[in-house]
Amino acid sequence: MSDDLFSLNDKVVVVTGGFGQIGKELCGSFLGRGAKVVIWGRRQISDAQLADAFGEAVDRVAAYSVDIAKKASIVEVFEKTREAWGVPHVLVNNAGIDTQPSAPPEVSGPFEEFPEAVWRDVIDVNLTGTFLCCQIVGGAMAQAGRGSIINMGSIYGILSPVQDIYAYKLKKTGRAFTKPVAYSASKSGLYNLTRYLATYWGRKGVRVNILTASGVFREDQDKEFQENYCARMPIGRMARPSEYNGAMIFLASDASVYMTGANLVVDGGWSAW
Ligand SMILES: NC(=O)c1ccc[n+]([C@@H]2O[C@H](COP(=O)([O-])OP(=O)(O)OC[C@H]3O[C@@H](n4cnc5c(N)ncnc54)[C@H](O)[C@@H]3O)[C@@H](O)[C@H]2O)c1
Repeated sequence: MSDDLFSLNDKVVVVTGGFGQIGKELCGSFLGRGAKVVIWGRRQISDAQLADAFGEAVDRVAAYSVDIAKKASIVEVFEKTREAWGVPHVLVNNAGIDTQPSAPPEVSGPFEEFPEAVWRDVIDVNLTGTFLCCQIVGGAMAQAGRGSIINMGSIYGILSPVQDIYAYKLKKTGRAFTKPVAYSASKSGLYNLTRYLATYWGRKGVRVNILTASGVFREDQDKEFQENYCARMPIGRMARPSEYNGAMIFLASDASVYMTGANLVVDGGWSAW
């Protein structure tokens, strides 16, 4: 049976933060569906690293270093991308920054003391960076009359973090950890950016959707954090980094051609309570 519905053959897919934990998995799966993949990441990635990550598909991968919080930087990599492979068909706004339970006290203390500078940094990358990528890439997509944009949301952007999950930190370190507000507020803004652009570009052939993800397992997380998180998670475990691939391929491909302005929740049931 043909699988054309989910094909990304010859489609140019930009993935911001495409060499991070989730991003690398997404890039691999887009390549597996026939796409050409352009990684826009903070770090410069060498040819050897790309070959190591993507094997024989590496001739369909390009990687450019960019700071998505800076418009001029995005314009520069957008021009390189367009020169190499034309206006992208798909943009995945995956780059983001978050505060881990291992974060130092100055960024994980009480809300009342959360530093304004850190708030601004997180908003700059997660929200303004996504806005800028949409403006530059989405604008060109609208002119071309086609495109699919997928923003990376989070359960912490639709719901408040459950602070109890981090309560073990007080016993363990003698200091309370508060999951900061900036990540939640920045991710939350993406939901209406998505809906706004879906209606704005609805008749120009550019679809805009958001995927809501939940926590991904990492070896270096505190065991207490993992246990508390999984106890709250209906499916009983954290996500594997590859477990967003299926939903992303769906949103990127023609399989979701009548879908725009939507929130696709892939969260192990977290938001179902
Ligand atoms: N890992 C999780 O538990 C989880 C859960 C829900 C949502 N998410 C979201 O998924 C996305 C990917 O997360 P991840 O866990 O793979 O994170 P990660 O830290 O492994 O990767 C993030 C990538 O974004 C890039 N980046 C950061 N700032 C940038 C900037 N200014 N310009 C360009 N690139 C920049 C980094 O270089 C990195 O490659 C993020 O948007 C995150 O908020 C992650």
